[in-house]
Parts: sequence; C-alpha cells; structure tokens
Amino acid sequence: MKNLKKILAIVLAAVFVFALAACGSKEEAQSLTIEEGKLIMATNATFPPYEYYDGDDIIGIDAEIAKLIADKLGLELEIEDVEFDSIIPGVQSNKYDIGMAGMTVTDERKEMVSFSDSYAKGVQVVIVKEDSAIASIDDLEGKKIGVQQATTGDIYASDDYGEENVTKYANGNLAVEGLKSGKVDCVIIDNEPAKAYVAANEGLKILDTAYAEEDYAISLNKSNTDLQKKVNDALKELIADGSVQKIIDKYISAK
Ligand code: ARG
Repeated sequence: MKNLKKILAIVLAAVFVFALAACGSKEEAQSLTIEEGKLIMATNATFPPYEYYDGDDIIGIDAEIAKLIADKLGLELEIEDVEFDSIIPGVQSNKYDIGMAGMTVTDERKEMVSFSDSYAKGVQVVIVKEDSAIASIDDLEGKKIGVQQATTGDIYASDDYGEENVTKYANGNLAVEGLKSGKVDCVIIDNEPAKAYVAANEGLKILDTAYAEEDYAISLNKSNTDLQKKVNDALKELIADGSVQKIIDKYISAK
C-alpha cells in the first residue's frame, strides 16, 4: 500500500513536469509582440481593394478584417508593408504574427505555414491592351506574360507557359506598367486588383475567360496553433454576423 502511494506520487510528479514542459514550449511558440499586446500583420500593399495606400495609411479589405480580428483578440493591429515573397518567411520566423495579403491557399504554402479558414475568393484573370490580338487564354502560348513575383499568377504562368515567357515584377502596378509600355503582352493577376488597375489606366481590359479560382486565407506560423484557433474563432464570428461581407461590399461595389 505504501509502495503504491509512492509510485502514484512519482507518476503524478512526472505528469506535472511533463505538463509544465508542454506549457513552456507553447509559450515559446507565441510571439513576443503578442505578449506585448500587438498583432503584427505582414502584407504587400499594392493590391487594391485588399491592401493599398490612402495617403500614409494602408486600407482595404484585409486591413479592415484584420483590425476587427485584432479587436476581438484584445490586441493592437500593426501592419507592415513588405515584399510579397517575404511574407511567408517572416511568418515562419515569427517576425510577423499573421500574413494577410489576398494570399491564396496552396499545397506548397501549406508545407511552410498554416492557414486560417478562407474569408474570400479570388480568380486569376488576364489583363491585355484593349486592341490586343489575345482574345482568350488559348492565345497565351508563346506570349510575353507579366506577373507579380512569387504570386500564384507567377507560379501558374511559369508552369503552363514556361519560365522564359514570364516576366516577374515586384508588384502588380509595375506589371501593368510593363504591359502599357509593351514589354509584356498581358498580365496574369487576381481579378479584383485587375479591375482596379484597369480602372486606373486607360486602354486596358480583362479577358472574359478566368484562368484559375482560389481561396484567400490568413497565414500563420505552423507552431502557433493557439493563435490559429483564436483567429479562426474571431473570423467565424465576423463572417456569421455579416461584418466580413459588409467590408467586402464596401470595397467591391456589389453589382
Ligand atoms: N492571390 C495571389 C497569391 O496568393 C496574389 C496575392 C498578392 N497579394 C498582394 N498583396 N500583393 O499568390
């Protein structure tokens, strides 16, 4: 009987130590900035209506949804504007708590980061000059294609039409400049930014045929399952109470 008590005490102590260790490692996964009450979001603010500048402020669908999520988590949102292809590495190294940039969920990216539930849909489309000979995506073979570096537009175009035919620009604006000046014959990019670029520039149009359909989600560090759960819970509430749709409608005129 005495022995049994001893064994029980040892087992309990071991369980306690294990539990402590588990807590410790969880703490490590949590970023320091969150402990300081901040939620750091990395984005690439050349992507209207999801993220773009209004004076010195970054506004747009992602910025507004992120603000509501941060509010629900009791954190102060801080947005960092970085190159699109440094968002995922920065989330992996815990430099940023979340990446939110009209970012498409892909299997390759899922190997590097985890994603929240999806909050919006995107479609890859093709922008051409109004008088272009390119009438549909069937005409893209051998054409010069402009894309934003490391986006799904880049990945698909490089796979389908060959890296040698794809010019990679730092952002969508520059790709559109390349199209206007005749350096490329078309630009493959997400539909909503495409509409915004076409509205802001004379003589461009979007082909009717969509290239690929995608889901946008928030990227998170794989080990930060706690934050992923909190973000998903917040997102669920914001979708259920219509807040997300309200923000999307504000930036994308419902037709
Ligand atoms: N949806 C595309 C992707 O995930 C393009 C996103 C570009 N976003 C941006 N903020 N520049 O690859």
